[in-house]
Order: sequence, then structure tokens, then C-alpha cells
Amino acid sequence: MIFLVGCTIIILLTVVAIVRSKKPLKTLCKEAKYDLVYNYIGSRAILQDIIMRGSNKIELSLKSGKNAIITGGTRGIGLEVIRMLLKSDINVIIGCRNVKQGELLLQNFRNDGIKSGNIDVINLDISVMDSVRNFAKTVKEKYSTINYLINNAGIMFGPYIETRDGYESQFSTNYLGHFLLTHLTLPLLKAAGTKEEKSRIVNVSSCAHIAGEINFDDINNRHGYIAGAAYAQSKMAQILFTKYLDKLLQIEEANVQVHAVHPGIVNTDLFNGTNLKKCMPLIPSLIFKSPLKGAVPIIYACLSPYLEGKGGTYIVNCKVLATSNATDSEVLQEELFNFTNKLLNITAFGSGD
Ligand SMILES: NC(=O)c1ccc[n+]([C@@H]2O[C@H](COP(=O)([O-])OP(=O)(O)OC[C@H]3O[C@@H](n4cnc5c(N)ncnc54)[C@H](OP(=O)(O)O)[C@@H]3O)[C@@H](O)[C@H]2O)c1
Ligand SMILES: *[C@@H]1O[C@H](CO)[C@@H](O)[C@H](O)[C@H]1NC(C)=O
Ligand SMILES: *[C@@H]1O[C@H](CO)[C@@H](O)[C@H](O)[C@H]1NC(C)=O
Ligand SMILES: *[C@@H]1O[C@H](CO)[C@@H](O)[C@H](O)[C@H]1NC(C)=O
Ligand SMILES: *[C@@H]1O[C@H](CO)[C@@H](O)[C@H](O)[C@H]1NC(C)=O
Ligand SMILES: *[C@@H]1O[C@H](CO)[C@@H](O)[C@H](O)[C@H]1NC(C)=O
Repeated sequence: MIFLVGCTIIILLTVVAIVRSKKPLKTLCKEAKYDLVYNYIGSRAILQDIIMRGSNKIELSLKSGKNAIITGGTRGIGLEVIRMLLKSDINVIIGCRNVKQGELLLQNFRNDGIKSGNIDVINLDISVMDSVRNFAKTVKEKYSTINYLINNAGIMFGPYIETRDGYESQFSTNYLGHFLLTHLTLPLLKAAGTKEEKSRIVNVSSCAHIAGEINFDDINNRHGYIAGAAYAQSKMAQILFTKYLDKLLQIEEANVQVHAVHPGIVNTDLFNGTNLKKCMPLIPSLIFKSPLKGAVPIIYACLSPYLEGKGGTYIVNCKVLATSNATDSEVLQEELFNFTNKLLNITAFGSGD
């Protein structure tokens, strides 16, 4: 009896929620499908982090005199990436929205006893294309070589918001801004690389790419917006681009290689707003990776000598793993590359202007 009443209440609440959301049934069904898929992918990835924890290691070596750019990084995984870059005596150029907060970091790291490396903070909102151009301009005025470009800044889920340039915010932040930044800084990366030690571009992607589809007809996913679908699309786009650009660079014989990384399922503010963190806030702190452990595969992709000459690869817990079959399509890679160049008015990718 109590069970029946319970079920009736749940069904009623669900119906009320559906009616109140005013979303078409098709969108609701698709939303439910993405919820299921994310639960599946997420659980599998958590298990993978546990099984592979032995391989998620890196030995730091000194890389004095080298320059790295990281987008975001005043908190979350990026903060721990910066810590390890400093320990390797690298000069870290942080592109972030809150310059004051970025400038405080160096003192904090020095207080933690890290004496090597340096930090240079330059304003960057990666979701705004003019900001990306200004950032790149400043970098070029100050530096002639960049050894590592770490495309880290990212957002997940959230409501439908369009940026100033008219793009959905996840697409714009996770993919488009980084595409432009890579285009603008490629000459500096090429200038820093040598045959023996190539420069590296590291895209912080995600296992969520598996659920991705590139919706060329509505790249913003404006019609029937589903946050999970837009996130997966942006992360899949990063991987398609990683593979395509690495091939281009190989043909050119440029001394630059590109990697995509899934950092693991990491307990950061990225999960603020998800049902899991809202309803069961303790779970992430218990079973997710720490930001430090999430930073390890990113540093591995930047610095590991084992990856020399092995660009175009996808790194999980410091191992090279396969990506979804859909991302292996060379036609799709090229289609997205052409499409993005057109969006950004780029005529010669990598020319830097
Ligand atoms: N956590 C995970 O489990 C997980 C799993 C797979 C992939 N990832 C990826 O890992 C990367 C880092 O995530 P996280 O977990 O460290 O998230 P986080 O703690 O939320 O940090 C995100 C960082 O991105 C920056 N950022 C966001 N929008 C920006 C913008 N428009 N311009 C400049 N910076 C911006 C944030 O800076 P502000 O302080 O200015 O907001 C912050 O530094 C993301 O690309 C994410 O997709 C994370
Ligand atoms: C991924 O890497 C390519 C270069 O390989 C870059 O152009 C692209 O913008 C990157 N994507 C993101 C969003 O990190
Ligand atoms: C995420 O939630 C935590 C805990 O409630 C809060 O301290 C933090 O400021 C939030 N971060 C963001 C970016 O909303
Ligand atoms: C992916 O491709 C491999 C080999 O090409 C094939 O064995 C596998 O079944 C495919 N997986 C999916 C999910 O289509
Ligand atoms: C991409 O653009 C190039 C140059 O314009 C063209 O030759 C190629 O066919 C295009 N590829 C796709 C998949 O559209
Ligand atoms: C690309 O060029 C078109 C027309 O020349 C212009 O309307 C648009 O704003 C430009 N887009 C960007 C991202 O610069």
C-alpha cells in the first residue's frame, strides 16, 4: 500500500515537472537518454580511474627555460598543473579572467616551498574571440617561443547561454576559443620545437566525447538544447581537431605534436549544479580523483619522453587509449576543421593571424 502511494506520488511529481518545464516530449526523452548515457560513462570512468591508478604517475624533470601557456587554472585541475609546471622550472603564462587572483598564485606557491619556475598572468576570456586575439597579441609581444600550450579552461552543463560572438557557451569555451588560440600561437610553438623535442599542444578533453555528435546544422544546439549533448559535442570536437591537426603538422614536418587528455573523474567545481553534487555532496569527495591526480595525465602529455613522436593520441591515466570510433573518421575531422575555419574567418590555419 505504502509502496503504491509512493509510486503514485513519484509519477505525479514527474508529470508535474514535465508539464511545468514546458519542454516538448522529444527534448525530455533525449534529456533522459543523455542522463542515462552520462551515468553509464561516468561510472565506467570512475572504475577505470581505480583500476588504472597504478599507471597514473609521472616523474618530473627540470625543463628550465621553457614556456607554457595554460588557459584557466586559477582553480581546479589547472591549479595543480601549474604547480607541477613550476616544480619543473617552467615559465607559466596563465590566461585567465581574474588577473588579480592569478597574480596571487605565485606567492601561494612560493609559500608552499616551490622556488623554481615563474608565473606571468595575462587576461583571457576564452569564450570571447576578441579577448583571445588580444591575449595572443600580448603573448607574441613578450615571447618568441612557446613549448607547451595547455587548453584547459572548460565549463560543463549549465543553461543555454550565447556568448558575445553568438555561440553556445560550452561550444565557445571548450572548443572554439581554443581553436582560435591554437591558430594564433602555432608559429611560436613551431619556433620552440626541435626534431628531438617537439613542442606540444595538450587538449583537456573528456570521456564524455563518446556521447558526442557534431550537429553541423545547428552547431549551437539552440533547438531543443540539452546541456549534456552540447558538452559532449564540444569535447568530441576537441578530439577530432587533435587528430586532424596532428596529421597536418606531420605532413608539414613541423616540430609540434598534439595530444588529447581525459583527466579522470575529478572532484572540482565543474560538478557544481549536477544532481549528484546537489543531492549527495559526499560521494564526489569519496570516489572521485583529487585535482592533483587529475593533473598528472595532463603533465604526462606535456612532458613525458615516452610520448615523443606519438602525437594525435588520447591519454587516460598516463596510458594511450582509443577514442570513440566516430572520432576516427577523417572525413568528419576535415569537415569540422573546414567548418570552424569558416566560422572564425581563418584562411590559412596556423599562420598566426
Ligand atoms: N573534473 C572532471 O572530472 C573533468 C573530467 C573530464 C574533463 N574535464 C576537463 O578538465 C578541464 C578543467 O576542469 P576542472 O575540473 O578543473 O574545472 P573547474 O574547477 O571548474 O575549473 C575550470 C577552469 O576553467 C576556467 N574557465 C572557465 N571558463 C572560462 C573562460 N570563459 N575564460 C577563461 N577561463 C575560463 C575557470 O576559470 P574561472 O575561475 O575564471 O571561472 C577555471 O580556472 C575542463 O576542460 C574540463 O572539461 C574535467
Ligand atoms: C585541440 O587541439 C587543437 C590543436 O590540436 C586546437 O586547434 C583545438 O582548438 C583544441 N581544442 C580545444 C578546445 O582544446
Ligand atoms: C561550487 O560549490 C562550492 C561549494 O558549495 C563553492 O564553494 C564554490 O564557490 C562553487 N564554485 C563555483 C564556480 O560555483
Ligand atoms: C569500432 O571499430 C572497431 C574496429 O574498427 C570495431 O572492432 C568495433 O566493433 C567498433 N566499435 C563500435 C562501438 O562500433
Ligand atoms: C575542406 O576544404 C578543402 C579546401 O577548401 C577541400 O579541398 C576539402 O574537400 C574540404 N573537405 C571537406 C570534408 O569538406
Ligand atoms: C567574419 O567575417 C564576417 C564578414 O566579413 C563578419 O561578419 C564576422 O563577424 C567575422 N567573424 C569573426 C569571428 O571575425
